[in-house]
Amino acid sequence: MITLKGRSIQKIVEPETGLTLLDLALKHKVDWSFSCTRGTCSRCRCVVTEGAEYLNAPTDAELDNLEDEEFEQGLRLGCQAVVRTAGPVTAKLKPFF
Ligand code: FES
Repeated sequence: MITLKGRSIQKIVEPETGLTLLDLALKHKVDWSFSCTRGTCSRCRCVVTEGAEYLNAPTDAELDNLEDEEFEQGLRLGCQAVVRTAGPVTAKLKPFF
């Protein structure tokens, strides 16, 4: 299962491979910030506290927009983090503003 913690709504949803964390949040009406959906605005930034191994490796857009320390803290961009394999994942929205 995937636990999504948005601004004020938290839901536990079925993992769907090929969808991003942002796709899942929108589908299940979790209040997740976003704007560009292309990995440039960082509004969808989140911390993955569990199950990062079930997601894709960081994309080029994330490598360009996140700092090393942010990766060390488990931060990803929700619009870039794709579910690769079904497994327990927990992600909490951590926007800059
Ligand atoms: S929505 Fe802009 S970086 Fe994800």
